[in-house]
Amino acid sequence: MSQRILVTGGAGFLGSHLIDRLIAEGNEILCVDNLFTGSRRNVAHLLDHPRFEFLRHDVSFPLYVEVDQIYNLACPASPIHYQRDPVQTTKTSVIGAINMLGLAKRLRIKVLQASTSEVYGDPAVHPQPEEYWGNVNPIGPRSCYDEGKRAAETLFFDYRRQMDLGIKVIRIFNTYGPRMHPNDGRVVSNFIVQALRGEPLTIYGDGSQTRSFCYVDDLIDGMVRLMQTPHDVTGPINVGNPGEYTMLELAEEVLRIVGGRSTIEYRPLPTDDPKQRQPDIDKAKSVLGWEPRVALADGLERTVEYFRETLGATS
Ligand SMILES: NC(=O)c1ccc[n+]([C@@H]2O[C@H](COP(=O)([O-])OP(=O)(O)OC[C@H]3O[C@@H](n4cnc5c(N)ncnc54)[C@H](O)[C@@H]3O)[C@@H](O)[C@H]2O)c1
Repeated sequence: MSQRILVTGGAGFLGSHLIDRLIAEGNEILCVDNLFTGSRRNVAHLLDHPRFEFLRHDVSFPLYVEVDQIYNLACPASPIHYQRDPVQTTKTSVIGAINMLGLAKRLRIKVLQASTSEVYGDPAVHPQPEEYWGNVNPIGPRSCYDEGKRAAETLFFDYRRQMDLGIKVIRIFNTYGPRMHPNDGRVVSNFIVQALRGEPLTIYGDGSQTRSFCYVDDLIDGMVRLMQTPHDVTGPINVGNPGEYTMLELAEEVLRIVGGRSTIEYRPLPTDDPKQRQPDIDKAKSVLGWEPRVALADGLERTVEYFRETLGATS
């Protein structure tokens, strides 16, 4: 049945893909975003759509609207962005969660929180199952994001315990795809942009460190599946791709797809680089019937295509 769905952070990378999916399924969307890191460009193709509405609003202020479901994605997601105004980052996570939970409580509807693998901090357990409580520094430069997201999870579970609210908490691991920010310091977009510009691809360290990447369509599928679960399913549930690649493999794959003459340049590893997280997705498999389907090479091709168009590159 068609629903009226609020997506906060809907003009961002993940939010705009979620909206595409929900619109395609026949739903009506209210996209709320303050455009801090998001862009109208991400939803430009929807602005004239009869079932799409955009509202410029900061979720750290109360919002009174009538909807049937809420996906709460509003929050800057990369260190470059969330450290620009760390106090606002915590406000967005914590007060934003309080506002969305309050709205869900008033309307008696379910609400999904976009949480993160960062709640595991610098983990002592690999891969991370949902039961692992994490290893997070409460006072460091990343804490505004990590602790903000942890406090938001606390709020979600207290609203559940106190008011039996329908909550869904998804812990998102590294995701990539079209509409990523070109300059937010993430390795996939960095490599692609560098390759398209014919610049050297910068690898920090010797390139043997591994990372795992989930293609955006897979991630959104897991998110929508979680929202559709019965009331007793709350999460938290990890959604990500457990396949690991070395940075050198990733760089070589990007070079193969883009072509051109870029070389690889090695730089010293920054000291604050957290050790890699890798999702344990057993719960997503058993509870959601979900697992990633898009192979890295295919996802990278689609992402390169997007950056080729947006950067106007010819290489
Ligand atoms: N992309 C990933 O790999 C990843 C990993 C883990 C968690 N997440 C979470 O998923 C969500 C979406 O991330 P993304 O990668 O799409 O990032 P994004 O920066 O592209 O999207 C976030 C959106 O939230 C908006 N926003 C920020 N503060 C706001 C506020 N106070 N009020 C209203 N809107 C606000 C931004 O303008 C932007 O459009 C975030 O909550 C993020 O923490 C993403």
